[in-house]
Amino acid sequence: MSDLSGQVALVTGAMGGIGQAITAALRTKGATVVTTDRSGSDMDGDLTDAAFCDGLPARVAQAHGRLDILCNNAGIITRGKITEASDDDLARSLAVNVEAPFRLCRAAIPIMAAQGKGAIVNTASCWGVHPGPNHPIYIMTKAAVASLTQCLGRDHAHQGIRVNAVCPNEVDTPMLRTGFATRGLDPATAIADLDASVPLGRIAQPQDIADVVAFLVSDAARYMCGALVEVNGGKPVT
Ligand SMILES: NC(=O)c1ccc[n+]([C@@H]2O[C@H](COP(=O)([O-])OP(=O)(O)OC[C@H]3O[C@@H](n4cnc5c(N)ncnc54)[C@H](O)[C@@H]3O)[C@@H](O)[C@H]2O)c1
Repeated sequence: MSDLSGQVALVTGAMGGIGQAITAALRTKGATVVTTDRSGSDMDGDLTDAAFCDGLPARVAQAHGRLDILCNNAGIITRGKITEASDDDLARSLAVNVEAPFRLCRAAIPIMAAQGKGAIVNTASCWGVHPGPNHPIYIMTKAAVASLTQCLGRDHAHQGIRVNAVCPNEVDTPMLRTGFATRGLDPATAIADLDASVPLGRIAQPQDIADVVAFLVSDAARYMCGALVEVNGGKPVT
């Protein structure tokens, strides 16, 4: 029997690069995974819609009888200096990267508390822990998610709820590749250059991050609360 069998998980951004890998990893360990994304998922919706976020954990629990695992994985990246940022850039990034995890945690925790157990993993970023250059909106939202993780990890441990975050450096996903394309760079060449900058010799594949998420939600991580786990192949933020 796999160690997540009988457990029900909700994964946001589940149709994206890392989200698909998290979904597959949790299913491999036996969990029932409910996916959500803008389209193509089990429960489609827009995470900038407050009512959608507020109601989603209860919908999952009603459909499947319980909610054991929440992976707040969806995110968007806004590039460029603060002087290039629009009000809409700020509002959208705060809504998807910060407000949605806040609302989903707030709605999921009472359900998990009533069950006596739960695990939440937020996808932050190593940039949220060690700021890099020229992405202030993205970085401050990821710092907020990291801080939220530490706060909730402490506040809800007594209810048997463990809240942790995975903090990747560069991962080979559409988010990374479209960023290169936007800047007029060939993604394959740019990724080969990035590979050479990583002490382990390559940037992460989504599975590298998903395996850590699967560990954090599992009983093997039973004593971890509020941890910000950097998954970076040995590459510091520069
Ligand atoms: N790729 C990287 O290098 C990297 C590094 C560090 C952290 N991260 C984080 O990992 C997470 C996953 O990113 P990814 O690289 O898989 O990106 P991705 O773009 O492949 O996936 C993100 C998913 O989030 C969904 N999403 C975005 N806005 C949404 C909204 N308003 N409503 C519903 N869904 C929405 C998208 O549809 C998409 O499927 C993000 O939080 C990202 O910030 C990525």
